[in-house]
Amino acid sequence: MTRYVGAIDQGTTSSRFILFDHEGEIVALDQREHAQIYPRPGWVEHDAAEIWRNTQSVIAGALNKAGLTAADLACVGLTNQRETTLLWDRRTGAPLHNAIVWMDTRTDALVARFSAQGGKDRLRAKTGLPLSTYFSSLKLIWLFENIPGARAKAQAGEALFGTMDSWIAWNLTGRHFTDATNAARTQLMNLETLQWDDELLTLFDIPRACLPQILSSSEIYGACRAPLEGALLSGALGDQHAALIGQACFAPGDAKNTYGTGCFLLMNIGETPRLSTKGLLTTLAYRLGEEKPVYALEGSVAIAGALVQWLRDNLGIIEKSADIEALAASVPDNGDVYFTPAFSGLYAPYWRESARGIIAGLTRFSTKAHIARAALEAVAFQTRDVVAAMAEDSGVALEELRVDGGMAVNALLMQFQADILGAPVVRPRCIETTALGAAYAAGLASGFWKDKREIAAHWRAEKKWNPMMSTEERERRIAKWAKAVTRSFDWTD
Ligand code: G3P
Repeated sequence: MTRYVGAIDQGTTSSRFILFDHEGEIVALDQREHAQIYPRPGWVEHDAAEIWRNTQSVIAGALNKAGLTAADLACVGLTNQRETTLLWDRRTGAPLHNAIVWMDTRTDALVARFSAQGGKDRLRAKTGLPLSTYFSSLKLIWLFENIPGARAKAQAGEALFGTMDSWIAWNLTGRHFTDATNAARTQLMNLETLQWDDELLTLFDIPRACLPQILSSSEIYGACRAPLEGALLSGALGDQHAALIGQACFAPGDAKNTYGTGCFLLMNIGETPRLSTKGLLTTLAYRLGEEKPVYALEGSVAIAGALVQWLRDNLGIIEKSADIEALAASVPDNGDVYFTPAFSGLYAPYWRESARGIIAGLTRFSTKAHIARAALEAVAFQTRDVVAAMAEDSGVALEELRVDGGMAVNALLMQFQADILGAPVVRPRCIETTALGAAYAAGLASGFWKDKREIAAHWRAEKKWNPMMSTEERERRIAKWAKAVTRSFDWTD
């Protein structure tokens, strides 16, 4: 009897393979970081070949640690950083270019070009998304316009397009497909039909021949090659959608916030896509096999954990990411310092590609500890902006926020998050909910788990933070933050 499910989590900064047992408990994990390539200000690239090598290595690593082989796996799920765009050669498997990462802003001129007629929201009704540097469509156009021969190869079906799910799945199974949650982030899919949309393909001039087939998030896609020889790949979805499943947010109104490289708050809105009027995205939450699709409202924040890495790698004020908590806690408050980390412009709810980061309120009194504290607080303030937009959009105030992701271990941040939201923050026992959600999607298709109810029964709260700040103080700080946000606008205009 096969007792485990494996999940590949191909994230922005690292790739992991995690083995879960039937209770959704972690059995083994292996992880490897890949290089972040910054050729110019605002540009961010990944070497897709390195990502595939790392993926193979962490699969072997986790299986080794657990003393298991691929034959011990009931099935495998795949989850990934979304939107990151790649073209590769169908014959040789070689990427035509480094992948353009979701947070890259090189397409800002394309945003202006395509919104000149009809504005940034002209595609919202069909795709749920504004025109932005964030999504794959404009990144793919950039590749066609800048890589010699790329368009002709794509037209001939010799070059294949994919986000990281397609790239890994193609290398594992030889099949060129994507799941509908990832396709929803390309801005080329119709949110109602869940198929590539002719009008969008014509508008962006994208050849259909290079596009992957769109499948559901939970079905048997095929058998894998080494290092997963013979194991069935049967779940695939974007990381934020996977985390929604991992947090068992199956009912309309259920929401989770994942603190990763960025910060992504998704709320299940049921079987009808509803458009936001407050700067949130409408996206496919998941589609499990033949079941009806379920939609979500999403508040995307580009920079969260990436800010801690930046303090570590670019400023050198901490040695390792975990050190930020002690440094921030060494001062009683932010000393009136506010940090707007608009490194990739500002995403939800502002959608300003020309914003850039600022640190405001500096005096001779300010220390690196105040900057560290302001950085952590920025993550909480950005989340609060999204929660406020969601409450206005949905008419329902969030009763509590389910959190996960790497930064959810930071107790100082979680307490401040509860304080600034004025609502409790709840962390589940397993914060690897992204990988867990991919494992669940795979296990539902293979019959390892029976249904959503069985999965939801695994969810357990481990820690809860209640708000302790007075309303007056909360409002004062939110007003200060809002001021800092407006100061970051229009930097590159
Ligand atoms: O949309 C980008 C998102 O999927 C990246 O997630 O966890 O790598 O920050 P993460």
